[in-house]
Amino acid sequence: MKALNQLMDILHLKLSLITYLLVIACLWSILAQQLGAAIWSTNHEVYVVYMGHHGDVHKDIVVNSHHELLSSVKESHEEAAMSMIYHYKHGFSGFSAMLTAQEAAALSSRREVVSVFPSRQKSLHTTRSWEFLGIEDTLSSQAMNFDHNMRNASNKNRTLRELANYGQNIVIGVLDSGVWPESESFSDHGMEPVPPSWKGVCQTGDAFNLSHCNRKLVGARMYIKGYEARFGPLNVSGTGEYRSVRDKDGHGTHTASTAAGREVAHAAAFGGFGAGTASGGAALARLAIYKVCWPLPGESPTGDNTCGDADMLAAFDDAIADGVNVLSVSIGSGNPQPEYFEDSIAIGGLHAYRHGILLSCSAGNAGPKPGSVSNVPPWLLTIAASSVDRTFSAPIELGNGQILEGQAVTPSVLRPSFYPLVHAADCLLSNSSIDATSPEASQCLANSLDPVKTKGKIVLCMRGVNARVEKGWEVLRAGGSGMILANLPSNGAEISVDAHMLPATAVPSDIGEEIIAYMRTTRVPKAKLVPPHTYLGVKPSPFIAAFSSQGPNSVTPFVLKPDISAPGLNILAAWSGDNGPTKLEFDKRRVKYNIYSGTSMSCPHVSGIAALLKEIHPMWSAAAIKSAIMTTASSVGSDGKVIRAASGEVATPFLMGAGEMNPTLAADPGLVYDIELNEFCDFLHSVGYNHTLINIIIGSYPPCQKLHRVKTSDLNLPSVAVDLSTFPAIRVSRKVKNVGIGRSFYTASVKAPSGIKVEVEPSRLTFSHYGQSRRFWVKLALSEERTHVHDPYAFGSLTWSDGLGHNVRSPIVVQTK
Ligand SMILES: *[C@@H]1O[C@H](CO)[C@@H](O)[C@H](O)[C@H]1NC(C)=O
Ligand SMILES: *[C@@H]1O[C@H](CO)[C@@H](O)[C@H](O)[C@H]1NC(C)=O
Ligand SMILES: *[C@@H]1O[C@H](CO)[C@@H](O)[C@H](O)[C@H]1NC(C)=O
Ligand SMILES: *[C@@H]1O[C@H](CO)[C@@H](O)[C@H](O)[C@H]1NC(C)=O
Repeated sequence: MKALNQLMDILHLKLSLITYLLVIACLWSILAQQLGAAIWSTNHEVYVVYMGHHGDVHKDIVVNSHHELLSSVKESHEEAAMSMIYHYKHGFSGFSAMLTAQEAAALSSRREVVSVFPSRQKSLHTTRSWEFLGIEDTLSSQAMNFDHNMRNASNKNRTLRELANYGQNIVIGVLDSGVWPESESFSDHGMEPVPPSWKGVCQTGDAFNLSHCNRKLVGARMYIKGYEARFGPLNVSGTGEYRSVRDKDGHGTHTASTAAGREVAHAAAFGGFGAGTASGGAALARLAIYKVCWPLPGESPTGDNTCGDADMLAAFDDAIADGVNVLSVSIGSGNPQPEYFEDSIAIGGLHAYRHGILLSCSAGNAGPKPGSVSNVPPWLLTIAASSVDRTFSAPIELGNGQILEGQAVTPSVLRPSFYPLVHAADCLLSNSSIDATSPEASQCLANSLDPVKTKGKIVLCMRGVNARVEKGWEVLRAGGSGMILANLPSNGAEISVDAHMLPATAVPSDIGEEIIAYMRTTRVPKAKLVPPHTYLGVKPSPFIAAFSSQGPNSVTPFVLKPDISAPGLNILAAWSGDNGPTKLEFDKRRVKYNIYSGTSMSCPHVSGIAALLKEIHPMWSAAAIKSAIMTTASSVGSDGKVIRAASGEVATPFLMGAGEMNPTLAADPGLVYDIELNEFCDFLHSVGYNHTLINIIIGSYPPCQKLHRVKTSDLNLPSVAVDLSTFPAIRVSRKVKNVGIGRSFYTASVKAPSGIKVEVEPSRLTFSHYGQSRRFWVKLALSEERTHVHDPYAFGSLTWSDGLGHNVRSPIVVQTK
């Protein structure tokens, strides 16, 4: 009886606590409605308080510790509860909250806190819709679909995909703008039941109910609290965005289907271009969608999305607990790059790594600027973008009979006859504020063209300033019949194809010059746009896209980034059913598949392959999978020559990392460079983190109890980057693990960077069984001749070969000045 009374007491207590919380919640929601986000707007910001590994204690204890900590800098527990946004408690510990700068400073001095940083907005890594002349970035695009990649590999009896059962036991988590669940790419027809280890959920919302998840789309969650705390409530009517996992934008649908879309025959972007079988890298892998990107308020007309650290960390925290096997994140920070522990992708990636999850992410589209690469921590796999062997040939015939090559994927085709050809600068509205002699005059900016001068003509527009598709819209608005879009010299020969809203052909800058030269020779210039055709097998391919961000790594120079390159130029994949292919608000067309470009598109190619490798080798660590992908990459193109940049120059490891991914070889790399967690502790120590901090981040029991004094360059990566600018010689250590046949014998060969002496000790390695590790050292020394070279970097490679087809290649980068 007494026990019962006690129980009643406890229940009562609990009930009154619940009532109390309910009252608080009600009051809060009324208050929030009244004041909106304005209550915080004056001096509060969304901050992330990162507290490292959670020590494997019960989640309630973790949550309580967050409340205690936050309350210690707030007036009351109630205020603390109201300012809390997210608790991070599964994969790691921390929270996000509305804080003043003073509160943030107070929290950051606390012993248990690793870092406190404002939640920054990141962007999706498609080639952005806007070009900024004279600023660091140039845009671009080109195309491919997975089968081309696979075709190279068909020399073995079973393809990698077959060997891996198309990845059916693997879950790929995608942090992006959501998903369009009705796309055929996400059909679960004929798929096996969801793997029992999967613990994720299907979160319902606007136009998204439980029936939208299936055996392909096994998880769906959305994260908007950080966004709304910063920008106010999502403007559903103004943006057309769904308050659910449903993807209005198209980007998330595109990346998810590239990683793990089903095979869909006869998929084509607008009217047949790029037609073929669309298939993700791991066609039977499961997808878990984490929607973290939302429309940037006030952005128009192409409405770029924004993704905040606070929301992304919540997604990483859940994804780790849900049981994803691979994470695909086509998102990154603008430059300068954040510190590792002030960056949601770096933090999420490290804790994912601890759980055996590889995080594959985009290098960014800030190329060809050196040092622009994003997502640089060594535990991430960072992907550059390359072209594929496909072209969308659409020649232009000029009035003088000259035929010039261009590219197009525009569906509607002009009558193939001559039209008057006119330069955009000659079509300016007479009252336009644009100076007719300025570069902007020829760029077809919004509302700049005079319908009287444009009507019925083909207009030559130059790239720069506004979106490529917006130029097409402007010509159409002014009554033009077609457009020729010419690259600027800084865009080189790299052609971006877009679903322009009128017939439009894109040409390299030199062809643009030829057209202008022709127009000077005649009083009645005219041109004919030839309907486009798709050609495959274009050589040489690939080349590295000009937009792809480049090394060196601006945070840790002696960790090479990017790691690898994969197709990211003109990629065909599934699209949102609620956005036009150009994303322009005037574009009412709807397509099931769309062509897009960016390292956003190359990242999921690698995520899909990582899923296949994980299926074949379930016990491999994230580092082993990364190593297999990198050491089997190709540094030569289809013409047998070294891969080039879009500019025609040789692509160094700063552009392509280890080279172009070669999926089939990656399944059987022979040796891998594995990394134990404690080696990351030593690495963090080498870049300046102290013992206390490392213990909080990674956890104090075995992994980080003892730190070893190592050089940053000693981290066991499948690439070598060293500094010979201050010391004339260095010796770095590496360890390889045998994952091939038991007994094997490898010999080192080196392509020494120019002016650098390289010795490998020992230069032969013998393995007697699977899983055995061997250590070796690489000595690099400056030679006399190097002192006369101006270039501060030299590039080479190290390859271990067993003579039986395993060539385990690592790029070498040496800084000499
Ligand atoms: C989910 O929504 C679809 C329409 O999109 C509808 O046909 C279906 O009945 C709904 N299912 C459930 C379980 O509500
Ligand atoms: C929502 O967006 C529309 C269109 O951009 C705008 O007119 C409206 O003022 C916005 N509403 C709010 C609450 O910001
Ligand atoms: C310029 O002229 C066009 C048409 O002649 C007119 O529609 C537009 O409003 C004018 N713009 C300005 C800024 O006067
Ligand atoms: C470790 O580094 C942190 C942050 O830089 C600092 O606050 C702390 O005092 C350091 N601890 C020790 C033992 O040096």
